[in-house]
Amino acid sequence: MEENVNKRQICSQAGYLPIPLRCVPAQSLVEFKIYLAGKDGYSLYSNLDSGFGPRDSQRLLENGVEFVYVSVKDHQAYYRTMEDTIENIVADPNIQQEKKSEILYATSIELSNQLLAAPPGKEEIKRTANLARATVQLIMKDKGAFGSLCQAFNHDFYTATHLVNICSMTISLAQKMGLMDVQILQQLGTGGLLHDIGKIFIPPEILNSVNPLTAQEYEIIQSHVNRGRQHLEKIMDLPSEMLAVVAEHHERIDGSGYPKGLKHDQLSPLGRLAGIVDTFDAMTSVRPYRSHTFSVGDALQEIEDNTPQKYDVDILHAFASMMEDAVPSDNDPEEKTSNSKKKVQTPTINLSGPKHTQYYFRIPIVVQRLSKIRDKITLGPKEKMISHKISCLRLGFLSNHPFKSDQNIYITSEKLSAIGMDKLTAVVINCHDHTGGWYTVDAKFHKPQSPEIIEKIKTITDVREISALVEHETEKY
Ligand SMILES: [Fe+2]
Ligand SMILES: [Fe+2]
Repeated sequence: MEENVNKRQICSQAGYLPIPLRCVPAQSLVEFKIYLAGKDGYSLYSNLDSGFGPRDSQRLLENGVEFVYVSVKDHQAYYRTMEDTIENIVADPNIQQEKKSEILYATSIELSNQLLAAPPGKEEIKRTANLARATVQLIMKDKGAFGSLCQAFNHDFYTATHLVNICSMTISLAQKMGLMDVQILQQLGTGGLLHDIGKIFIPPEILNSVNPLTAQEYEIIQSHVNRGRQHLEKIMDLPSEMLAVVAEHHERIDGSGYPKGLKHDQLSPLGRLAGIVDTFDAMTSVRPYRSHTFSVGDALQEIEDNTPQKYDVDILHAFASMMEDAVPSDNDPEEKTSNSKKKVQTPTINLSGPKHTQYYFRIPIVVQRLSKIRDKITLGPKEKMISHKISCLRLGFLSNHPFKSDQNIYITSEKLSAIGMDKLTAVVINCHDHTGGWYTVDAKFHKPQSPEIIEKIKTITDVREISALVEHETEKY
């Protein structure tokens, strides 16, 4: 408990917790000793006998005092008050975004600690959903909000911080990929806060073991997914978005994950998303069984090294771009350079639009860059490439040379022309630098291909079908 209190002190200021006066009804402050911040520290404004009332609140606000403080000793009552008023706090234009993020983050950590102390019931799940909704509101309201939440992140080995980090990363990434439905985002965030709840059923000596795990112990740890899911299902009907985060965050595209070993499109888009976010946070956090923690750049690289086998390439690109925006690595110029190379346009995920099956394969193609010289379209030299994925809307290929976004290209391929796909033109929408002299390029066809012709791909080569990621005709890049 003492360690938790220490952590909160880091989140707040020197043992005092801030209360935004405009958002918190004065009546709910009656049970606190109220302090004011001054140049020389904190001074007592009202104790329990005198009581803090609406008049005090009004007077202080009139004098430009926006925050009062309570002692960290009163943290439990404080965080319940913050939970009850979090919606007002997030919506208040007078409170700085950093302060909102700090309060929301610390309040969520407190709730997560409680969730991990005893199996949560209906009431706790409701409170969890309430904080997830506030996180959605904060992230949706302001582009930089996820960045300030990241500043508040604690990458320690407490599961509580991990739950809160996953909640905000999941919401922010899904939103970055085009998911704008507030209710779905809230369910995702609630799933994030509860995704490892099954760990409360795992003996702590196994969970925090610093020794290599035996096969049996590893199996027990893996059981946290099913145990968490079963516990939640006893309390409520799990919406599919929440279920994806809770049940699939350890599943991997190649079937190597657990608990079910789901493969390819058996694994939902949101499950894939949760898998990347969960792995990243686990790698960048202190773990008792690991001697070092990964930097942001190294963790992204490690995940990328296992993509597309285990992780979804489009979701990873969007995640890398999101983290690059949120965590500028000023003090690590090397990392900054390598991250800036990874700058890509964000692919979109669309859960409601029409589906376009995406196939992974290996087909040799020839690409020529199109350019306009004195109003005449000219074809550049032929460059041999390997195409690795295709859908009605897009073609992806591996290249030894970079391509600029918006570069128009002409594509020919003996294999593709055998099924009637010739005279293909497309525009490059992103080019991902894998360093070491190779790139993955995504191009969008000028004219969408018919589903029938794409289906014929199966007749000319081996394909892996990825129908989970859905593209939309009208998506904007
Ligand atoms: Fe987990
Ligand atoms: Fe996790």
